Amino acid sequence: MRHLMSPLDFSVQELDKLMDIAEDIEKNQEKYAHMCDGKILATCFYEPSTRTRLSFESAMLHLGGQVLGFASADSSSAAKGESVSDTIRIISCYADICAMRHPKEGAPMVAASKSTIPVINAGDGGHQHPTQTLTDLMTIRSLKGQLNNMTIGLCGDLKFGRTVHSLINALKRYNGINFVFISPEELKIPDYIRSDILDKNNIPYKEVIKLEDVMPELDILYMTRVQRERFFNEEDYVRLKDFYILTKDKMELAKKDMMVLHPLPRVNEISVEVDEDPRAVYFKQVQYGMYIRMALILTLLELV
Ligand code: CP
Repeated sequence: MRHLMSPLDFSVQELDKLMDIAEDIEKNQEKYAHMCDGKILATCFYEPSTRTRLSFESAMLHLGGQVLGFASADSSSAAKGESVSDTIRIISCYADICAMRHPKEGAPMVAASKSTIPVINAGDGGHQHPTQTLTDLMTIRSLKGQLNNMTIGLCGDLKFGRTVHSLINALKRYNGINFVFISPEELKIPDYIRSDILDKNNIPYKEVIKLEDVMPELDILYMTRVQRERFFNEEDYVRLKDFYILTKDKMELAKKDMMVLHPLPRVNEISVEVDEDPRAVYFKQVQYGMYIRMALILTLLELV
């Protein structure tokens, strides 16, 4: 039995296969419509979510399976003090596979260690968000045709943004990747990413504050929101929340085939006028998220 805690749990070849399945699902949905008949997905979300929870549920429903779960800690027995270890033992009796989001780093890993069904990390604190990374990789591969030889700008909250941490970790295994980190001083990437991932693997990167200065060199711009829920005080959040706003004017500085991704939700960091730009692919990215989660469910249940 396999779990998914980090994008590195799959080899590059396995990731390619997963994306191939997801692409086939996109083209031939009816072929997959009953592959999970009789199977149940549990979504155990101790933190708010729109995309991740609902795309997992939609994925299972599109595969012919059924779903159950909870959308907040308050609506589960966590509110009475039940541990994650005990909860997953219970969920293992009710479901065949579980997607779990938790505010504490490592909580899905604890669940996996006690589980008798596959557990998928659907986001743990500021640590990792592997299924968002699968979504991001599939979006880039589908729209750019490859995952090698690119300059990727990551902009915004690089300190608390778990999607950023997971994506850097995943992309370190591809060739010719060059990172540009765009953030205010207070929201720079954590030291462990710099030392354990970038320096250790000799991956070229630079850190800048001004987005306009680097726009012309980017192949991908990955925008992120400032993660209000992880700040210790509201004053800092208010000061930093609108540090970056991507506008039409800034898009004019970019390459004609540059692509803007965003894990969403968006707050103010991308002006709505940018949505009309064909280089803005964050809503298409959401569609890929469902197909890759369908492929993941099938793979972890050993149905493909
Ligand atoms: N991208 C993402 O994780 O969105 P949700 O928080 O809505 O699940």
